[in-house]
Amino acid sequence: MTAAPQWLTAWEPAEGADRAAAAFRARFGAEPDGVWSAPGRVNLIGEHTDYNGGLCLPINLPHRTYVALRRTSTQSPAVVNLASAQEAATGLWTAALDDVTPGHVTGWPAYAAGVAWALARDGHAVGGFDAVVDSCVPYGAGLSSSAALECAFAVALDEAFELGLGADDAGRIELAAACIRAENEVAGAPTGGMDQSSSLRAQAGHALLLDCLDGSVRHVPFDLGSEGLALLVVDTRAEHQLADGQYAARRTACEDAATQLGVATLRELDGASLEVILARLVDAGVPAEVARRRVRHVVTEIARVTELVALLDAGRARDIGPVLDASHASLRDDYEVSCDELDLVVEVARSAGALGARMTGGGFGGSAIALVDAGRVDTVASAVAQAFADRGLTAPAFLVAQAAGAAARTR
Ligand code: GLA
Repeated sequence: MTAAPQWLTAWEPAEGADRAAAAFRARFGAEPDGVWSAPGRVNLIGEHTDYNGGLCLPINLPHRTYVALRRTSTQSPAVVNLASAQEAATGLWTAALDDVTPGHVTGWPAYAAGVAWALARDGHAVGGFDAVVDSCVPYGAGLSSSAALECAFAVALDEAFELGLGADDAGRIELAAACIRAENEVAGAPTGGMDQSSSLRAQAGHALLLDCLDGSVRHVPFDLGSEGLALLVVDTRAEHQLADGQYAARRTACEDAATQLGVATLRELDGASLEVILARLVDAGVPAEVARRRVRHVVTEIARVTELVALLDAGRARDIGPVLDASHASLRDDYEVSCDELDLVVEVARSAGALGARMTGGGFGGSAIALVDAGRVDTVASAVAQAFADRGLTAPAFLVAQAAGAAARTR
């Protein structure tokens, strides 16, 4: 049986805005103040480095989450009313803003209302609001649907309550920090911040070189099409129940190793030779061989970000394949966050002619990327789809990523 690849198309902004506005009208019987949207992201390289003060290099996807929102009050008691086209079962979710606190909100509203909580805690005058969400960011695909949700609310609340943060990068850093706190503290996911920084700060046509030590960025031109190349993204649709605990365990292992080495973050080991670092780990009594492999991944991955950016700067995108391959091997063998489906995508994509491939995002399922000649996109996608079908796996889904713009008002 031949398996045809399924493609995940992004909505045009006008379509996304129409959908969210129509759903808002149907739900609340009124016009929203506006529609705002924020993109999902795909990380080119620099995986599990953000919470280690390292470097990463995401691009934003054209796939966005749209929020139609109306401000309803500026003072207490402020009420939040939320609905989502993706989560119809929730119906209308209602809460007093004062009750939106860590430990008291579950499910998707934690990512949305949590941003209002974080902004209010920063001293911003956020009151009550009604909002409806619609999205074409693939859910659970490791393409940051949660950050897209948070960041769409961040720019919506920013404008609706006239906070003035979305207008420049300094303000967007504050918005990103609020989104990260919503995710870490209200939703309870101990993620590292790359996703929110990308969604709020990356530019169209550019990858975002993010230095997670100080939050500084450089916008690296990223236009594979001009070099006859394409970035194929494959959502394996593999679900891994242990993902949350495993992510937290990796983060804790890194923080423990840093403590034992006497550094604030593993980034501070940057520049030292790998042998010297590993010897220091032994001297510091870092117990397991496993901890040493975790650290080795982080240190070598940060170096790979620099290597890949240097190739892009030199106009040599065609040569980044081996760096992607090395990243995947490190994530699979040293960091142990890959899975059979991700390894299969990487292996089959390469056999079908990809110049390099790796898992992307947190891992344990989710998506992989492959660098391919533009003329071979269909060949590689078909080979991957066929390999999944042959093994009786759930059909994967595909998209070709082009670096899109940041969270903004759409209407
Ligand atoms: C998830 C997290 C990010 C980052 C990646 C791994 O996407 O949300 O903060 O840690 O995993 O690079």
